[in-house]
Amino acid sequence: MTAYVNPLRDPADRRLPRIAGPCGMVLFGVTGDLSRKKLMPAIYDLANRGLLPPGFSLVGFARRDWADQDFAQIVHDSVKAYARTEFREEVWRQLAEGIRFVPGNFDDDHAFAELRRTVEELDEVRGTGGNHAFYLAIPPGFFGDVVGQLKEHGLAESPDGSWRRVVVEKPFGHDLESARELDRVLADVFPEDSVFRIDHYLGKETVQNILAVRFANTMFEPLWNAQYVDHVQITMAEDVGIGGRAGYYDGIGAARDVIQNHLLQLMALVAMEEPASFSAQSLRTEKQKLLSAVSLPRRLDLTTARGQYAAGWAGGKKVTGFLEEEGVDAPSTTETYAAVTLHVENRRWAGVPFYLRTGKRLGRRVTEVAVVFKRAPHQPFSATSVEELTQNALVIRVQPDEGITVRFGSKVPGTQLEIRDVNMDFVYGGSFTESSPEAYERLILDVLLGDPPLFPHRDEVELSWKILDPVLEAWARKGAPEPYPSGGWGPESADAMLARDGRVWRRP
Ligand code: BG6
Repeated sequence: MTAYVNPLRDPADRRLPRIAGPCGMVLFGVTGDLSRKKLMPAIYDLANRGLLPPGFSLVGFARRDWADQDFAQIVHDSVKAYARTEFREEVWRQLAEGIRFVPGNFDDDHAFAELRRTVEELDEVRGTGGNHAFYLAIPPGFFGDVVGQLKEHGLAESPDGSWRRVVVEKPFGHDLESARELDRVLADVFPEDSVFRIDHYLGKETVQNILAVRFANTMFEPLWNAQYVDHVQITMAEDVGIGGRAGYYDGIGAARDVIQNHLLQLMALVAMEEPASFSAQSLRTEKQKLLSAVSLPRRLDLTTARGQYAAGWAGGKKVTGFLEEEGVDAPSTTETYAAVTLHVENRRWAGVPFYLRTGKRLGRRVTEVAVVFKRAPHQPFSATSVEELTQNALVIRVQPDEGITVRFGSKVPGTQLEIRDVNMDFVYGGSFTESSPEAYERLILDVLLGDPPLFPHRDEVELSWKILDPVLEAWARKGAPEPYPSGGWGPESADAMLARDGRVWRRP
């Protein structure tokens, strides 16, 4: 007789909450914005949701003269200011007991010896079992020094049955060559399956939902191809400027900051074939196949656009331009807006352009994927009756206002036969009572569980640079980007780029 297996107790059941086993995390870059606003709050939120082991430990490493309590205070303040879930004293107290701080430079041998002692002490007193993730929330120029030190001090080796993992934040290089170099540096110390490259967009619920919508349903996929799709627009617009991040952003620019990673990943999810399963290997194989089929048009001057925000208005306030931002080296040619046209050389997508755009200081903060369909082949309506009719579209609203909109034409009531566009909306808040975790909650938990599907493989990263490098080289030869007023929708050349194809950007 076959034993009855209760599906609710099946460990492979993805509906169950997944809880990390004994482990700790060492955080490099604790003084940065990312740690303060995202990583520390996400760790607390995970603890608050009961998803971290009771002995979880967090070690901060930085060039600061801090004791453990000082660092704990920093974490406390960041949790209070930015955590998603409510503050609970007992959760905090338990987390705080596992907080340590090691002061030092990245080239300081004593500090790394001390880090090793600290990690071993935590294994003793907190039962972290030798399992530690090293999170590099630091400029990539230091990755080599830090992983070299981890190797030197035996921190990268996992004692019997335990694990060591390294988490790297973008940018993964600034072109193909530097990305490969970075991969060599990491591979020298950690095996590929212990390297977790963060693209926080993949941690977003709405981004994961792209595959769910495509492959859990029958009604979208038959239309998802060149026969029905006219073009795809992927937009990530921000209303803010670069804030205090000139040191990072100037010299990097919008294409490297966002298109190389977030937008190409979104495109891969939208355009790839159905994976055999949701295992890391199947997913990555499909994304890689897609990325290797992406091509650029020949005339990059006509099919790409780049801009730099000038003074203008944002949120009802007068704001200065990029060149006047503190820390920007004038006359900087860094773009704060970038748009590219891409094609996919396969049967499914032949002739369908993918337009990707991103920019700072635009009219609104919005990230969306719009699949715009072809017009109906025959219109039995008179021209006047369809004045307002545009093309059908399926819009995946990544943020804010998460959901999906389907736009189609409908008869206006009471008129003889007038057709107008209407929207059918799915809104997360209206359908689910669960609130979405922050991307970093999901990703940190996956690191601690050793679950890699949401982390881009090195080959994906390298393929993305291969796509973008010719654009960046063409732009580097062109001099300054076109200024656009803050609060608008980018440079005129971006509108011209679509107008040449007889299309317009959506105004979300
Ligand atoms: C980061 C970029 O990866 O994403 C930032 O470096 C950008 O420039 C940020 O502001 C936007 O993230 P989100 O999740 O707010 O869309």
